[in-house]
Amino acid sequence: MCKASRTGVEGVTTMSSDVDFGRARKARRVPLHRTVRRLIRDPMAGLQSIAQEADGEIVRLQLGWFRPYLVTHPDHVQRILRDEATNYVRQGMFWSPLSRLFGQGILSDGPPWESSRRNLQPLFTAKRVDALMARMAAVAHEAVDDLARHVRSGEPVDVATEMSRVVNRTIIRVFFADRIPPAEADQIIPALYDIATSMVVRMALPWAPQRLPLPGDRAFHRGVGTIDDVLLPVIRDVRRHPDGGDDVIATLCAATGPDGAELTERQVRDDVVTMFITATETTSLTLTWLWPILRAHPDVARRLYDEIDSVLGDDRVRHTHVPRLHYVRAVLDELLRLYPVGWIFPRTALAADVLGDTRIEAGATLLISPFLTHRMAEFWPDPQRFDPERFVAGGAPHRYAYFPFGGGPHQCLGRHVFQVEAQLIVASVLSRIRPVPSSAGVPALKVAATLLPEERVRMAFEPVASRRAA
Ligand code: HEM
Repeated sequence: MCKASRTGVEGVTTMSSDVDFGRARKARRVPLHRTVRRLIRDPMAGLQSIAQEADGEIVRLQLGWFRPYLVTHPDHVQRILRDEATNYVRQGMFWSPLSRLFGQGILSDGPPWESSRRNLQPLFTAKRVDALMARMAAVAHEAVDDLARHVRSGEPVDVATEMSRVVNRTIIRVFFADRIPPAEADQIIPALYDIATSMVVRMALPWAPQRLPLPGDRAFHRGVGTIDDVLLPVIRDVRRHPDGGDDVIATLCAATGPDGAELTERQVRDDVVTMFITATETTSLTLTWLWPILRAHPDVARRLYDEIDSVLGDDRVRHTHVPRLHYVRAVLDELLRLYPVGWIFPRTALAADVLGDTRIEAGATLLISPFLTHRMAEFWPDPQRFDPERFVAGGAPHRYAYFPFGGGPHQCLGRHVFQVEAQLIVASVLSRIRPVPSSAGVPALKVAATLLPEERVRMAFEPVASRRAA
């Protein structure tokens, strides 16, 4: 019998269930020499080949005395993320490096997470995001103006930096009431890159105690310091002079914690930092992948351009265009299938359980990965091929064969924000500038906390020949 407590959060079913341990078997082990050899040579390809061989079966990776389960089948992912979510928590050694950045708020678990979720959820309902769409469209248009001016010289630009600028500006205006000066927000862009790449060593050695210095620690701390230097003064100012605003910072400064008391500066900081990073980094990284993909798939690019031309005409992007940008949406959905930026997230089992027919012991670490599940041939024919048609034709065959935004009680709060904002930005960019065709391919994947390209993506853009008003 597996028992875990009910969280009281809407949408979470009772977590008490009968589990038949009698028929359960142990997971097949992938021995150390096979795991390590493949992971050292090319970690992303190594993980993919282990997952392909497992073919949906749960396997146990032997990495010294750290032996996480690798879970890929959608039925098992559903049990972890949704059906038994209170038994599979965001705790344990994999989460501790992250908690140095995000603290104990919306990305934690249990009562602190519940309290943060209660405070933040009202800001991100589909209804509220829809009400903000007109403003988002206007800001995206302005931000893309700057980009269009910038690329006019025909010189290649660093795509990640440009996408971050456009996304930061949009998010800061719409969800942070312009409280963060753009030049200071730009300082956060390289800090986030340093953080995502410097965490790899800790992710690979999750059992290493925090007090043991590891390569990457200094860059990580420097990155966190930069973010705090930008955001803490803003938070302090709003706490000193509350103005009744309804943006993320004002909402958190007026909110209460799990004990019903006003939040401490640390609690506000943890959720402001988390919201800023999750709202900006995920979207700009996804949009960074878009351009090399379009360059490599001229047929997809042509169809995308045709749709944008026909929906926008000579107009600038507006929120009313969004419901008609069907192919833009399908391209973004497919982009998140092959490049889900939150590509792996671990859970710790509180109580023993049986997943499918595999026994999981209490305290075990489980790795779930949209990146791997999204490339399973059983659910996605010819899975490595970029083909937005899959989403035009109906999308995922199983709810958890496609989960770039997670699922269950921890499902991404910003899913709807991403979908609206990304459609607006893509339509706005492509109505004014387009990537210059070239034979360069799609970059390889870099191992990092998020799904980064191996090398910086530099691309040239050219103005759309004609007519559009800036
Ligand atoms: C491409 C865009 C995005 C992707 C792929 C993405 C992915 C995810 C995933 C996979 C999770 C679940 C993590 C887990 O279960 O442990 C998550 C949670 C979350 N996301 Fe996103 N996200 C995106 C955009 C955004 C945006 C734009 C925002 C804010 C406006 C946001 C805010 C959050 C928050 C606050 C959580 C934590 C929710 C909770 O645990 O209650 N995300 N996201």
